[in-house]
Amino acid sequence: MKHLIIYGSSGNGAGKTMGVVNTLKEHLNADLIDVSRCNLSFFDYAHSNKDDDFHGFAQQMSCAENIIFATPVYWYAMSAQLKVFFDRLSDLITIRKPLGRQLESKAMTFVATGHDELIPEGFDVPFKRTAEYFNMHYKRGLYICTSSKVYDLKKVEDMVVQFVKNL
Ligand SMILES: Cc1cc2nc3c(=O)[nH]c(=O)nc-3n(C[C@H](O)[C@H](O)[C@H](O)COP(=O)(O)O)c2cc1C
Repeated sequence: MKHLIIYGSSGNGAGKTMGVVNTLKEHLNADLIDVSRCNLSFFDYAHSNKDDDFHGFAQQMSCAENIIFATPVYWYAMSAQLKVFFDRLSDLITIRKPLGRQLESKAMTFVATGHDELIPEGFDVPFKRTAEYFNMHYKRGLYICTSSKVYDLKKVEDMVVQFVKNL
């Protein structure tokens, strides 16, 4: 299966979420898009940004079989970086409809890290509902608590291995 991880964080490719992404990448041999290190702008009704990096990313999504979004929890929601990417999915139902249709039947899930013990209530809703919108198969996401009180690299590795088995 061809896996694509789409990661958005303020961690500059070195934060807690990236640590989990690196482990996941090793186990899945996945491709990676870091949305914070590219030319990606907010959704624009006039589509004046249609030549930025989003089109290429959408093409990468169309070639993958499983799409995994990776984000820290920032203020009880996905990161702003990833939300910009999610808003741009609107291009796929307006100016890039054929690419949007190619998402159909693909698997989609997320990995998230946060300081709190439990993932915020409703955090999974944008992932689940977006998957439904594009007729993708949503799979339950993985949440990893990164509080120094409980964070343990071995435990993270075990959680990732278990998550990968269920993909
Ligand atoms: C702006 C900001 C907001 C945060 N909000 C939350 C939150 O609402 N819930 C939570 O559990 N952790 C929160 N945290 C902690 C991060 O989710 C946690 O440290 C995460 O593992 C950081 O991942 P990163 O290194 O990729 O940014 C927040 C951190 C930042 C910087």
